[in-house]
Amino acid sequence: MNVLLTGGAGYIGSHVALSLLDLGHNVHIIDNLSTGSEKLIPKNAKFTKCNINNKNIISDLIKSNEFDLLMHFAGFIQVEESVKYPQKYYENNTENSVILFKTCRENGLNKIIFSSTAAAYGLVSGKKFVDESTNLNPQNPYAESKIKTENFLIENRDDYKFIILRYFNVAGADKKLRSGQISKQSTHLIKKLSEVIVGKRDHIEIYGNDYNTPDGTAIRDYIHVSDLADIHVKVGKYLIDKLESNLFNCGYGNGFSVLDVINTANKLYQNKIKFKFSKRRAGDVENLIAETTKILKYINWKPRHNDLYEIIDTSIKWEKKINASDT
Ligand SMILES: NC(=O)c1ccc[n+]([C@@H]2O[C@H](COP(=O)([O-])OP(=O)(O)OC[C@H]3O[C@@H](n4cnc5c(N)ncnc54)[C@H](O)[C@@H]3O)[C@@H](O)[C@H]2O)c1
Repeated sequence: MNVLLTGGAGYIGSHVALSLLDLGHNVHIIDNLSTGSEKLIPKNAKFTKCNINNKNIISDLIKSNEFDLLMHFAGFIQVEESVKYPQKYYENNTENSVILFKTCRENGLNKIIFSSTAAAYGLVSGKKFVDESTNLNPQNPYAESKIKTENFLIENRDDYKFIILRYFNVAGADKKLRSGQISKQSTHLIKKLSEVIVGKRDHIEIYGNDYNTPDGTAIRDYIHVSDLADIHVKVGKYLIDKLESNLFNCGYGNGFSVLDVINTANKLYQNKIKFKFSKRRAGDVENLIAETTKILKYINWKPRHNDLYEIIDTSIKWEKKINASDT
């Protein structure tokens, strides 16, 4: 495959680029480095530094390369920031994505894989597993900006062939530690506990221990970023072969509470992780676990890293690596 990949200087895009390159595919990354880092761009990838809304540069790129598809990861992802600056999220995640999709199509590239989020489901009541037909009930402008972009593709389904992927909680790092999370303001639990281990953070704040779950803390479905990367490779082939638009959840269908995650990390790292309970955060949901029947039915994908220990361990090893190079 010859892939045009946006956001490849970021966490997930760089892992997908690595998986594609490891399998001998070609990858051309575009990224404006607004939140990403050139250090995460795999050395065998081609790279153009530009905004996804830059029609001229992207048109020229498409004209001079025979890309099979676009994988679109670029965007802003901080939920709390989106509450403060909703317009910033609408402009980058929706408007810029739409400009990018139109630029691609005008130049003959109409196959797209789009990174969406399980946050689109938002508050779901009465369901243990969330399937793709669940009504969307977003709780913040970040999730809304992603749904609007999904809707653009769905409303223009005659013009594009697309796969929308709704990621659950993405965590972990490449086993060879070639990439991982670099965000300094990450709100992700496993990133935060990795920061505690290396001494960048004192403790973990657990938001709410009065949920209706076995230990009172919220439950999520954590997917290893390398399995998510593998999904993209498989979905890319599916889209090229079948030319069929679709939408899939990306998770394992396993739920772990915040305390499960911290206890697992404490088993690995001699109880180094201190935590404090505080109030629930507005908009947080009790339980968000993927129903995975659909992706397993359509895509020839088998999870290879479905192991909370591995997810936590690779994340901490990566954090140690970047901590050592910071100092
Ligand atoms: N990380 C998660 O757990 C998670 C969960 C659900 C969905 N997602 C989605 O996956 C995608 C990737 O997330 P991530 O965690 O890798 O984020 P990230 O911040 O690590 O990477 C995003 C990349 O996009 C680039 N970028 C942003 N706006 C751009 C623009 N206008 N033009 C060019 N480049 C731009 C940034 O510089 C960065 O390198 C996002 O679309 C996000 O919404 C992530």
